[in-house]
Amino acid sequence: MGDAQQRRAPAEDDALFVQAPQMFATLANGFGRPDGEGDDGPVHDDIAAGPPTSDVLSAADGYIGDPAVRARWDGRYGERERLWSGQPNGALVAEVAGLTPGRALDVGSGEGADAVWLARGGWDVTGLEVSGVALERAAGHAHDAGVTVRWVHAGLVEAAFPAGSFDLVCALYPALLRTPDAAAERALLGAVAPGGVLLVVHHAGMDTQPVHDDGFDPADYVWPTMVAALLTDGWTVDVHEQRARVAPDGGAGAHHADDVVLRARRLP
Ligand SMILES: C[S@@+](CC[C@H](N)C(=O)[O-])C[C@H]1O[C@@H](n2cnc3c(N)ncnc32)[C@H](O)[C@@H]1O
Repeated sequence: MGDAQQRRAPAEDDALFVQAPQMFATLANGFGRPDGEGDDGPVHDDIAAGPPTSDVLSAADGYIGDPAVRARWDGRYGERERLWSGQPNGALVAEVAGLTPGRALDVGSGEGADAVWLARGGWDVTGLEVSGVALERAAGHAHDAGVTVRWVHAGLVEAAFPAGSFDLVCALYPALLRTPDAAAERALLGAVAPGGVLLVVHHAGMDTQPVHDDGFDPADYVWPTMVAALLTDGWTVDVHEQRARVAPDGGAGAHHADDVVLRARRLP
């Protein structure tokens, strides 16, 4: 499956489709701050911050991240017209419903159901995704729903968001590769603003499964307990539990029965 840009130009008319370098500039200019200052949408001027490190792989189309990860997920999405249910995840709805809307980052936003649900609820949403195939679908869903979401085509670590950029960072069933320096876990934590909330949800029991026949090794990935292990005195853990999953109908993950839910708040 080729790049989203080869199939159709990003839907700039109906949703902000921001490639990672523009996102850095946008963040540097203070998008979506509660006072509205600097809230002018994507910035196309010279980039004040980022790409952050020299070894980041940046494709000509602006994607920042590991090309192999993008290719793997583009391939997975390309196998079906729609991979997930199209409905917001039950754990997101349950954990976020009582929060005051602010700036939200949906990590691994997939086909966009969670990001669209957040935007409908008044959140200023950034959807971060490695798959251009998924992002294009997500932008279409946002258009259909009549909401604006800022879509960023990058890996979480490579996106290198400025510290404390979001009032809510959520990662629902993320597929973040584990590294010795816990870069993905630290990126999740670092993106949360003082007083903000981190929500990480995954399928219970997956972390202890043996290597799958297709080569998927749970030991290669980040699980909620690994994120929880890094929560220091600067955080309160509101929820860290296993519970029955409120699963949307249909979609490739519908067979998973239980979730592990981690919700923590960074102290102001
Ligand atoms: C299991 S899917 C979950 C999608 C969505 N959150 C949902 O619940 O429907 C994991 C998603 O993470 C994305 N992904 C994988 N590695 C990523 C990374 N390093 N940074 C951001 N997204 C990533 C994949 O492309 C995929 O869309």
